[in-house]
Amino acid sequence: MLKKCILFCAFAAAATLIAAPAVAVPSADRPSQTLDNLMTAYNGESNAHARYLAFATKADTEGYGKVAGLFRAAARAEEIHAQNHAAAIAKLGGVAKAVIAPADVKSTKENLEAAIQGETYERDTMYPEFLKAARAAGEKGAVQTLNYAKTAEAEHAKLYQEALNNLDQMKGESPKYYVCTVCGYTVKVVDFKKCPSCFNGKDKYVVVT
Ligand code: FE2
Ligand code: FE2
Ligand code: FE2
Repeated sequence: MLKKCILFCAFAAAATLIAAPAVAVPSADRPSQTLDNLMTAYNGESNAHARYLAFATKADTEGYGKVAGLFRAAARAEEIHAQNHAAAIAKLGGVAKAVIAPADVKSTKENLEAAIQGETYERDTMYPEFLKAARAAGEKGAVQTLNYAKTAEAEHAKLYQEALNNLDQMKGESPKYYVCTVCGYTVKVVDFKKCPSCFNGKDKYVVVT
């Protein structure tokens, strides 16, 4: 009987040891993955903000005033994304830091192409991956700010593509663009009562030209 018990106890102890690594889910690592992702996104948004302002100046010098206005509107949105990411980083115990690289300014046509590439990458690859990780970690604040950015980047990609397709009509004074100060959603016309992305009232929108 004693021999049986010793054998059983030894087996149970071994099973516990084997199972231990699977049970010990590295919960501390999950927020840090989200934190790393938010830092990457903060750096990306901060650089996009600076890059688009440089692209706007170039568009103005080439006479593409309407493209310049669009770049300034998107720059404002990226700034809002960076601020939202910074707040989420702070909630996770981090400090947002960005290294602003000199903007690679080319012709307005090329700048639009580069902007489309950047927005498309964020919309289709970066933000979906970061969202997946944040959802898995249950980081609701991170999910919200990443989602706001992803939704706005999709609109930026559309607006830039439209501008590129009609570049010969983009000379002259900039029309008004409207940017949601909560989520960065960017539109040409405010034909809604609530922001389609964050559902705050349309009074949260500011005009950018
Ligand atoms: Fe953004
Ligand atoms: Fe964007
Ligand atoms: Fe919004």
